[in-house]
Amino acid sequence: MKRAIIIGATSGIGRALANILADNHYLVGITGRRTELLNEMKTERPQMFFPKIIDVDRTADNIDVLEELTAELGGLDLFIICAGIGNFNPNLDFAIEKNTIQTNVSGFTFLADWAMTYFVTQNRGHLAAITSVAGLRGSCHSPSYNASKAYQINYLEGLRQYASRLKMPVYISEIRPGFVDTAMAKGESLFWVAPPVKAARQIFATLQRKKKVAYVTKRWSLIGLFLKLVPNWLWDKIV
Ligand SMILES: NC(=O)c1ccc[n+]([C@@H]2O[C@H](COP(=O)([O-])OP(=O)(O)OC[C@H]3O[C@@H](n4cnc5c(N)ncnc54)[C@H](OP(=O)(O)O)[C@@H]3O)[C@@H](O)[C@H]2O)c1
Repeated sequence: MKRAIIIGATSGIGRALANILADNHYLVGITGRRTELLNEMKTERPQMFFPKIIDVDRTADNIDVLEELTAELGGLDLFIICAGIGNFNPNLDFAIEKNTIQTNVSGFTFLADWAMTYFVTQNRGHLAAITSVAGLRGSCHSPSYNASKAYQINYLEGLRQYASRLKMPVYISEIRPGFVDTAMAKGESLFWVAPPVKAARQIFATLQRKKKVAYVTKRWSLIGLFLKLVPNWLWDKIV
């Protein structure tokens, strides 16, 4: 039996992924801040789910909890960072930007490094993180969200190089969703919105193949290509 931890498993993509992993015989460490949702999930699958409260923003405070959870699971094969926040910020309120940076940049980095160190020490493992197509370009509507996702994309590329130089079977997967029907998907001009279960199924297939980078759903790779190619003057008009 394999073992996974999902950071941010209480709702949306993380919760759907937790269920798919359990369906595929993984013991799953489920984490988040909302205790009632963790308890609800534990009741649904008492043999497969191992809940722990983890607030990503508390960085170093989480070491003991992560070690405890890994021991309860009996090891760790897969670590998925799904937790993230994002808000529109039309007035450039620094409190909003600061919260986003704390969770999506500082908290993310701490967890990615913890998992990487764990996997390097045991000489194998798989780190995955949910980034976003939003990380490919800047946005006037949510500058810190797009910038934080760009940071994650870049950071994971760095970790992939780190693992590759060690010549160890430690894999890094970076998953870029388009719109998925969760509390995070805000705004009125949404399109190609995927149900969380469909997104999670595609993510799991990607993880099984240890893909380095994947768009979810698959057709969002077209938007990814467009975002990479569109010139600045045009992007500034349409964003
Ligand atoms: N939905 C989309 O359209 C979309 C598109 C592209 C990328 N994404 C990315 O997908 C990921 C998952 O989002 P989602 O769409 O599934 O939204 P969601 O339903 O709002 O889920 C967010 C998850 O992150 C957790 N979380 C947030 N802040 C946290 C913190 N400080 N500490 C611990 N956990 C925290 C939440 O748990 P608690 O509240 O219980 O702590 C929850 O489990 C995010 O990284 C998001 O950027 C989403």
